[in-house]
Amino acid sequence: MALSLACWGLMALFALIASAQASFLPTDPSGLRLIQVGPNPETDRRLVSPREILRMVHERHENPSVMMGPGFVDLTGLEYDPAELSLDATNTYTYPNNATQQHIVWPLIQELDKDKMTSFLGTFSTFHNRYYMSPTGVESHEWLLDHVTSIARQAGRNDISCRFHHHVDFPQPSVICTMRGNSPNSTIRNQIVVCSAHSDSINTKQPLNGRAPGVDDDGSGVAGCVEIMRVLANSNYRPSRTIEFHAYAAEEVGLRGSASVAQTYFAKGTPVYAVAQNEMSGYVKPGITPHINLVNDNVHQGLVSLMEELALEYVDLPTRRTTCGYACSDHASWTQYGIGAVATAEAGPKDDWVNPKMHTDGDDMDLFNPDYALEFAKLNMAFIVECAEFRG
Ligand SMILES: *[C@@H]1O[C@H](CO)[C@@H](O)[C@H](O)[C@H]1NC(C)=O
Ligand SMILES: *[C@@H]1O[C@H](CO)[C@@H](O)[C@H](O)[C@H]1NC(C)=O
Repeated sequence: MALSLACWGLMALFALIASAQASFLPTDPSGLRLIQVGPNPETDRRLVSPREILRMVHERHENPSVMMGPGFVDLTGLEYDPAELSLDATNTYTYPNNATQQHIVWPLIQELDKDKMTSFLGTFSTFHNRYYMSPTGVESHEWLLDHVTSIARQAGRNDISCRFHHHVDFPQPSVICTMRGNSPNSTIRNQIVVCSAHSDSINTKQPLNGRAPGVDDDGSGVAGCVEIMRVLANSNYRPSRTIEFHAYAAEEVGLRGSASVAQTYFAKGTPVYAVAQNEMSGYVKPGITPHINLVNDNVHQGLVSLMEELALEYVDLPTRRTTCGYACSDHASWTQYGIGAVATAEAGPKDDWVNPKMHTDGDDMDLFNPDYALEFAKLNMAFIVECAEFRG
């Protein structure tokens, strides 16, 4: 009796330890969500209802000075609490600080086709919306997986595979394609360079059933990564590192797709070398001189500098750094797990040239500027290849 009690006590202790490590952020049975609204986990965490989340998303849109991204991270159910880990990407890998792969990058850049990006967006934006809970939010992602799968198949590439990353508590999946690395060194070959964007869309006035074509936000970013993948798939280039294309579900409601993908990679110890998040890249406000914004917070500073050098080498537009704010897009999901990430965008939240139709039924093809979007694709292509080939 005493013995078995001691045994139970020990088992309970182990269970406690295990649960402390593995499910630090439980799902609340009442359906409340655990969110973080600022950088300090001590003071910036709240338990809120799903209805409250929709209200926050809506209010944020009504306030133009803080309207980019959700502004909060939904941490509900994550097994690894980033705040407990306090990871820092600064020392994990060495990165290039300048262009050295011109002989590979230039020919690839010349194959990027703005008409292909336009035609991709023309279809991707016809779904009523790509909201993470709606039927068309799922159908649009089934179409996206078919589309990227057929790119790989038509190019005859067995080394490229595409799949869904399913999410446990909402129906919209994320989409991931992997182009396997070719370095003879398995450490290098297994490291992953990611081209990412978020593939959901939202109409903040009527999230559940409003029309949200999401051409600029963030169809334009997805179009950039898909076009980069199409060009790489049809070229003779075989990357040293592995290259992946990520289209994240549910960014607009708390970076939920990317948080889940980043945590999964972290938990498995999958080595992610660098991530380039492609935020909106399709709208140029009449009268302004177009340029590329590089997000300057919640990113890896060395990689931002690299982006600046690569833009000087490969791109016809100037760059400028911008502060995006807490949880403004999916790069933050990687940064919080200690992975080097950067993000490009047409504007920061304090800039007055951001697309005025974002998060509405008017974020449509008539405002899409293919020449502008093409420059972002060039820069991200350069980043992906320079990172994939770097020998530090
Ligand atoms: C990158 O290369 C260019 C051209 O060679 C050079 O002007 C620049 O100083 C270099 N930047 C860095 C950070 O080394
Ligand atoms: C493979 O690459 C890693 C990372 O750069 C390096 O530390 C290691 O020495 C390399 N292995 C060989 C056999 O060259």
